[in-house]
Amino acid sequence: MRTVYVNGAYVPENEATVSVFDRGFLFGDGIYEVAAVVGGKLIDFPAHTARLHRSANELGMRFTVSDEELLAIHRELISRNGVDEGVVYLQMTRGAIDRDFMFDTEKLTPTLVLFTQNRPLVDTGVAKAGMKIVSIPDLRWGRCDIKTVQLLYPSLGKMEAKSRGADDAWMVRDGVVTEGTSNNAFIVTQEGAIVTRPLSPSILPGITRAALMDYSAVSGTPVEEREFTIEEARNAAEAFITSASVFVGPVVSIDGVELSGGKPGPVTLGLRKQYIEESLKRAI
Ligand code: PDD
Repeated sequence: MRTVYVNGAYVPENEATVSVFDRGFLFGDGIYEVAAVVGGKLIDFPAHTARLHRSANELGMRFTVSDEELLAIHRELISRNGVDEGVVYLQMTRGAIDRDFMFDTEKLTPTLVLFTQNRPLVDTGVAKAGMKIVSIPDLRWGRCDIKTVQLLYPSLGKMEAKSRGADDAWMVRDGVVTEGTSNNAFIVTQEGAIVTRPLSPSILPGITRAALMDYSAVSGTPVEEREFTIEEARNAAEAFITSASVFVGPVVSIDGVELSGGKPGPVTLGLRKQYIEESLKRAI
C-alpha cells in the first residue's frame, strides 16, 4: 500500500481524507502538477514548481508551502514508496468551506495532496510502437494555460479516441491543432524542422515542450513555433507528443492516415533520446 501526503501528514492511502466541502471536489477549484521520476530522481522539478506558482497566481489562490518543503515532500514520498521510475502527482485546491459560488480566499486554507505512481517511463510500449491519434473539437474553457483539475473533457476525449481504435486525441479549435488531451502536439516537416503552436491561453505551457525546444536549439534542430492544421499534420514526415509522463511520444497515425510508415520516425526517436539524456543530467 502506498503512503500519500495530505495537508502535512504522511498516511496510508486508505486512511487519507479530504473534506466533502473541498472546492476542488465541488467546483474543480484546484490545480495540479505531474513530475516524472527516473532512477529515483525528479525530472524538470524547478519548472514544475514555477508553473504551480503561476497557476495559483492566475486563480488568486493562496500558496502556503515553500518550494523547499515541496521538494522535501516529493523526495519523502519517492523514498517511502520506493519509486525508481514513475510520477509524483501534486494537487492543490483553494480549500474547504460550505458550498457557495462566492468565496473569500483569505478565509480558506489550501488543501495539498501528493501521491506517487510507479510505472515504466523510459522503456515503454508507446516509445516502441508509437501512438494512433484521432482529432476531436477542442471544447474546453478559455484558460487552458492554467493547469486546473477540470479534466472532464480531456478524459472524455481519451475515451472517444479509445472507442475509435486510437490511443489519444489531438484537439482542434478554429481550424488548427491546439494540443493533445494531456500533452503538447508537434509535427516534423519533410525538411526536418519541428513545428509546434505558440503559447497562448489555448494551451498548457508544457514543461517537456519547453525543455525539448531548448535542447533542440542547442543541437541545431530547426524549431518553428507556428500553428498547423490536422491536414498539415497528416502530411507531415513525423509527429509526436510531449508530456512529463511520456516524455517524447511518437505518433504513427492521425485520423487513420499513417505517418513515417506507421513506425516511430527517426527525428522523433532522436529527440526522445536527447530529451531523456539531457533531463537525466539535470534530475534532482
Ligand atoms: N498532462 N497539455 C495538457 C493539456 C496537459 O495536461 C499536459 C500534461 C501537457 C504537457 O505538459 P508537461 O510537459 O508539463 O507535462 C500539455 C499531465 C502529464 C497529466 O495531466 O497527467
